[in-house]
Amino acid sequence: MFAPNGSLTGSIFYNPVKLIFGKDSTSKIGEEIASRGFKRVIITMGGASALKNGSYQQSIDSLKANNVEVVAELRDIRANPEVNKVREGVKLARENQAEAILAIGGGSVIDSSKALSLGAFFDGDVWDVPRATPPVSKRLPIFTVLTISATASEMNNGYVLQDDEKQLKVAYMHPDNFPTVSCIDPSFQTGLPWFQTVNGVVDAMVHTLELYAGADGSEETALQLDEGLLRSLVNCGHGLQKDPENYNLRANVAWAATLALNGYSGFSLRGGSWLVHMIEHALSAIDPAVAHGAGLGVLMPAVIEYLATKIGKKEVYDRWAKNVYGVDGYKAGMEAWVKDLKTWGHPTTMGELGFKKEQIPHIAKLVCDVGCPHGFTPEDVAAVIELAF
Ligand code: NZQ
Ligand code: ZN
Repeated sequence: MFAPNGSLTGSIFYNPVKLIFGKDSTSKIGEEIASRGFKRVIITMGGASALKNGSYQQSIDSLKANNVEVVAELRDIRANPEVNKVREGVKLARENQAEAILAIGGGSVIDSSKALSLGAFFDGDVWDVPRATPPVSKRLPIFTVLTISATASEMNNGYVLQDDEKQLKVAYMHPDNFPTVSCIDPSFQTGLPWFQTVNGVVDAMVHTLELYAGADGSEETALQLDEGLLRSLVNCGHGLQKDPENYNLRANVAWAATLALNGYSGFSLRGGSWLVHMIEHALSAIDPAVAHGAGLGVLMPAVIEYLATKIGKKEVYDRWAKNVYGVDGYKAGMEAWVKDLKTWGHPTTMGELGFKKEQIPHIAKLVCDVGCPHGFTPEDVAAVIELAF
């Protein structure tokens, strides 16, 4: 999905994002925009968090200092973003002749900005951008100020958008739709609510594990890199539970989350699996209140069980259990996964997310409407979901 396909006998890596990491990195965003000749930006953001954590004000100060004008603001982009909000953004950007987008927020804000970037030049409805042939070639450049580490959208070319009416959530990777510059100041995240912190850690772990599923055991470098990321995320997750304002722990989670889906962690791993994400996207299409990381955390062990027993991934996940948790066998790894989630107060069953068993066939159909990986049928997907109850 978000990582290069291929293997050690042939892969391509491409990532042009300039990343500025660390305290006060946002103070540089105005200069980065102005130095590329852009004078008029549309700001995109979520609800109140950017006003509280300082990211909005620091961005405004930096824009002002570099004579960059804010010509419009698209506020209140919700988590699990919806296409209607992006339609509003396309209209605003066009009416105000925005030359670039400054996204202040997390994956939902950045993803909406990526859709807006292409939609601004698309002669049709922004929902149809992923199906344009050839791909939309003109785009508004995107600059980002990240406030929650989870998706790596700040350093990849993917976006995920949903249409509530159609009950569809669809991911799209445009070949060039990377942010131009992204600022990651982990200090914006020291006040992140615990539930959101865990969502981010879990999302990054699942990205790594979905990619890991593509291994055949020959990719020692990729697997060691991924196991290192997973160990760091687990350790930092436990650390943050005790000490949520610790900058170093926040910074380590931020860097791990970016690496988990910017192309590095999946290099040579044949694209990975993405079954966990496909199912989770269907859950949020049905109920946008389900947080992405929460759905993933619940589904991950069920998918591991299915991939291990049905498509020969047992050895790979046995290795994961050994090298990440120091336990024997993938089943023991799954137990360690669930134990950590429970320690962190995260849901571990579909019931806790508010779903009922009667919904399984509908969820499976929604997954396969978008596209089932591994040649799975709706019945296979239903069997996986059943395991998560
Ligand atoms: O709306 P506000 O007030 O900003 O609150 C947000 C939101 O409610 C809050 N938040 C963000 N920064 C904060 C903060 N609260 C306090 N302090 C801060 N510093 O966090 C909540 C969740 O934000 P959101 O952007 O939705 O989180 P996330 O980054 O996890 O993004 C999730 C979305 O990204 C998609 C998911 O499907 C979902 O729609 N994904 C995007 C991917 C990509 N582009 O590569 C890959 C992922 O797998 C994923 O599918
Ligand atoms: Zn994810």
